[in-house]
Amino acid sequence: MKKIALLGYGTVGSGVYELVEKNRDRIFKKYNKGMALDKILVRSLKRYETLEHYELFTNDFEDIIAYEPDVVIEVMGGIEPAHTYIRHFLENGVDVITANKDLIAEYGGELLALARENGALLKYEASVGGGIPILKAIQESLRGNHFDGVQAVINGTTNFILTKMHNEDMPYKDALKIAQDMGFAESDPTSDVCGFDAGRKLAIMSSLAYEKNIKWSILPIEGITEIEPIDIENAKLLASKVKLVAMSRYEDNRFYGAVRPVFVNASSPLGLLDNEFNGVQLTGDAVGAIHFLGKGAGKLPTASAVYGDLIDVIQDIKLRPDVQFDNDFTSTKTLPCKAKWAIRVSGTNLMEMTQCLTYVFIDNKLRIEKGHSSSDILAIIEETNEEQLITKLNMLFSNPYVEKIKHFLILDSL
Ligand code: HSE
Repeated sequence: MKKIALLGYGTVGSGVYELVEKNRDRIFKKYNKGMALDKILVRSLKRYETLEHYELFTNDFEDIIAYEPDVVIEVMGGIEPAHTYIRHFLENGVDVITANKDLIAEYGGELLALARENGALLKYEASVGGGIPILKAIQESLRGNHFDGVQAVINGTTNFILTKMHNEDMPYKDALKIAQDMGFAESDPTSDVCGFDAGRKLAIMSSLAYEKNIKWSILPIEGITEIEPIDIENAKLLASKVKLVAMSRYEDNRFYGAVRPVFVNASSPLGLLDNEFNGVQLTGDAVGAIHFLGKGAGKLPTASAVYGDLIDVIQDIKLRPDVQFDNDFTSTKTLPCKAKWAIRVSGTNLMEMTQCLTYVFIDNKLRIEKGHSSSDILAIIEETNEEQLITKLNMLFSNPYVEKIKHFLILDSL
């Protein structure tokens, strides 16, 4: 019998409890192993008094220690006290499963090393992509590959907001409110809308894919707070959608990773992903491009990923955390390859701005699309790397008629 302790009983925690209860007999028959989830740690007991299984709840961490669990499932979120609790159990050789992307993105390397030293498992499938089994695929099924790219729509809240803005012309704030009500958004949605949540998930995936110690703090991160209706309209003009994409590339020991709003062809796999759905495209040298799509947030999809880890643990799969991340790489802050860009130039004199644009990009492939208003131009620049592009956009910005410039990567050009 495996004794399980659950740390946290929010949306995901209650989903995990539900799945453990629902599958108890089936799992017992299949693996001839029982599971007992008999202790649940919460901050305050009051909210749970009416639950049938209230006697399992405690607000005292010492009760969890005294229970001597074989497996601890951490779904509290945040860094502390989750970090201290997880360290405690790993140091004592107890297997830990967590859904905590903030913690893994920050301390994953340290905690995996601790697990290794103490013969414990640390599993964290639910930290990226909710119900999509992407981490297991990278570490197990696709082990025969060297990966050179990750492209992902990996934050459900922002995908939901952008979908509403695109399909229903809904204002940003109204769409965010619905995402919060539906339970996708973080308690502080800044992490979602500013791209930090996607950045953490990208760092976790990229570390595993390239076996490098990728800290999310090295990533240039831009969210969706500056996306305006005209950006959505411009994307539509190009048969695209604005998506918040987490992308990384790794080649010749050089890493580039970023979270940024990009124009994605509306009929491509990532372009077709709407609402809270997540999608990840990996490129491996053996498998080529491979896509994973599914629900990236919510109670049962996330609990499904936790539960998969739990089954590995109760089967005593001694798949020890064999990944070791090294720091042997350089990183760049701009996209290191040539690509196609959509440029929006706003200002007061369309004719002057057009002339200046043509002059600045005289050596590049430039196409000026029709703008939507008398003060905005939409231009397409091809076969240009981002560093060159930014230098030229800075020149353009010194024109007194230009008030604002935005550039969006056109993803399908990569
Ligand atoms: N806030 C996250 C999202 C939840 O919107 O994707 C799942 O990590």
